[in-house]
Amino acid sequence: MVDKKILITYASSTGSTEKLAQIIAEGIKKVDGVSFEMKRAKDIRPDDVASANGYAFGSHSASEYMDGEIKNLFEGLSSVKEKMSGKPVLLFTTGQGKQAAALASMEKLVAVFNPGWIKPGLAVKGMPGESDKANAIEMGEKLADAVKKTQKPTYIVA
Ligand SMILES: Cc1cc2nc3c(=O)[nH]c(=O)nc-3n(C[C@H](O)[C@H](O)[C@H](O)COP(=O)(O)O)c2cc1C
Repeated sequence: MVDKKILITYASSTGSTEKLAQIIAEGIKKVDGVSFEMKRAKDIRPDDVASANGYAFGSHSASEYMDGEIKNLFEGLSSVKEKMSGKPVLLFTTGQGKQAAALASMEKLVAVFNPGWIKPGLAVKGMPGESDKANAIEMGEKLADAVKKTQKPTYIVA
């Protein structure tokens, strides 16, 4: 039975980061009981984020930083910050040399949500190739395993 959901959301102009998202999804599919929803960051609403049990956030490097589309998403999530707290998060980026800088910029912003980090994040040069695939699948599976183990919050009524 599927009862946990991972939101994979990303900014991608020419398809490299989108391809990396699809490979991460392959890893998630290996774990029973965990599903995923994959959408571009511009199409995400705070409620989509609040209702997910874990996240893979991705961006291409733009001026050695994350893309504005994903930055805007993060900046619009203050209303659901509490609901994101402690949930597993995997970050992924692509770039032409400065993908690690983009990853670091995302780590800084996402840290305010008190994530359960799934590390290391993925920083891939250009279009992901065969050599990047195994690692990205492994990290997707690791994310899904962590999501599967998370407990639903218990509310204590006084
Ligand atoms: C406007 C623009 C700025 C970019 N800036 C950087 C950068 O600062 N560092 C870098 O490594 N790559 C940079 N790139 C390259 C892209 O990040 C890289 O090609 C990436 O893999 C593209 O991902 P996408 O296909 O998902 O859009 C830039 C590309 C564009 C179009």
